[in-house]
Amino acid sequence: LKQNHEAIIFKLNEEAIAFFKLNLRSNEAKTAVKYLHSRDITNDDIQFFEIGYLPKTNSLVDHLISKGYNISDIVDAGLGTYNEERQKMYDIFADRILFPIRNENKELIGFSGRIMESDSDRPKYLNTKETKIFSKRKIAYNFSEAIKTARIKKELIVLEGYMDVISLHKNGIDNTIALMGTALSQYHVNLFKSIKGTVKMFLDGDEPGIKGNIEASQTLISNNQKVMVVNNPTNNDPDELIKQGRKAEIEKMINEALNPLQYIISKRWPKVNSNDFNSVEEFMKEICSFVLKCNNNILYETSIDELEKITGLSKEAIINFYKKILKHQI
Ligand code: CTP
Ligand code: MN
Ligand code: MN
Ligand code: MN
Ligand code: MN
Repeated sequence: LKQNHEAIIFKLNEEAIAFFKLNLRSNEAKTAVKYLHSRDITNDDIQFFEIGYLPKTNSLVDHLISKGYNISDIVDAGLGTYNEERQKMYDIFADRILFPIRNENKELIGFSGRIMESDSDRPKYLNTKETKIFSKRKIAYNFSEAIKTARIKKELIVLEGYMDVISLHKNGIDNTIALMGTALSQYHVNLFKSIKGTVKMFLDGDEPGIKGNIEASQTLISNNQKVMVVNNPTNNDPDELIKQGRKAEIEKMINEALNPLQYIISKRWPKVNSNDFNSVEEFMKEICSFVLKCNNNILYETSIDELEKITGLSKEAIINFYKKILKHQI
C-alpha cells in the first residue's frame, strides 16, 4: 500500500509537469517567458530542463481533480492545499515558473517554483514540501545528466542553485549538480561514489557559500571522497558571472581549484590581525576544528606544517592547540 501511494505521487508529479509545460506556451505565460529570456534561458534550455509555468488560477488542482485524482493524494503530493472553511482546493505553485526536480533515476520527486517579480512579499523560491518521495536533504539537481560527463572527466562540480547549473550547461560545462541551498548529506556522499573521481565544491562566493563549501568538504573527506574547492573570489554566483561575460574566469577558477585546507586558509588568514592574539586564536580554532572533523591523518599532519608556516607558531604549540580542542578546553 505504501508503494502504491508513492506511485500515485510520482504519477501526480508527471501530470503536473506536463501541465506546467503546456501552460508555458499559453497566452497567460507571457510574463514568465519574458522573465526566462531576461535570464538568458533559451527555448532549448526550457526544453532540456523541462521548465514550465502555472498561472494564478487554481487550474492545476482543477485539472487533476477532473482527471479523477483524490484531493488527499494531491495534498500529499504537495501540489495543492485544502481550505476547510471554503471547502476548496488551492494550487501551491500558483503564478510561479516551475523547475522539476528529478532524482538519480530520473524519477520526478518534486518541484521548485520561482516568482518572476523582483519586489515581492512572496518567497522567491518555493519547493515541494517534505513528501513520501521528496526530502530536501536528498536533492542533487541534474545528477542523472551530470553523471554522464562526470564519469568521463572523473570530476563532478557541486553548485548552489539550479540557475547556476542551467547557465553553465549552456556554456558547455555539463558535469554540474545543484544542492539547492541545502547541506551536503550522506545521500550525496553515496551518489558521488559512482564517479570514481574528484568532487569540486563551487558554492556561491558569499559567506554562506564559503561556510557551505567548508562543511561539505568535511563531510566528503571524512567519507574518503576526493574533494577540491573552487575559490570564487567574487560575491557573485556562477550564473551572475556568466551574465557579466566572465566565462573564462569561471573556467580558470575551476581548473585552479584548491585542496580544502588551502581553501579555508586562503579565505580566513587574510582577515586575521597577526598582532592580535585573539584574532590568531579564532583563526586557529576554525582551522583546527575543521581538520579534526575531517578525521584524516595526512590532512592533520599537513595542517601542522602549513599552520607553522603561516602563523609562525611552533609545531609544539600547534599540537597543543589541537589537544586543547579535543579536551574541549578551547
Ligand atoms: N533556494 C531555495 N529556497 C530559498 C532560497 C534558495 O530553494 N528560499 C535554493 C534555490 O535552488 C536556489 C539556491 O537555493 O537556486 C541558491 O539560493 P540563492 O543563491 O539565494 O539563489 P539566487 O542565486 O539568489 O537565485 P536567483 O539567481 O534565481 O535569483
Ligand atoms: Mn546563495
Ligand atoms: Mn546564488
Ligand atoms: Mn540570493
Ligand atoms: Mn543566482
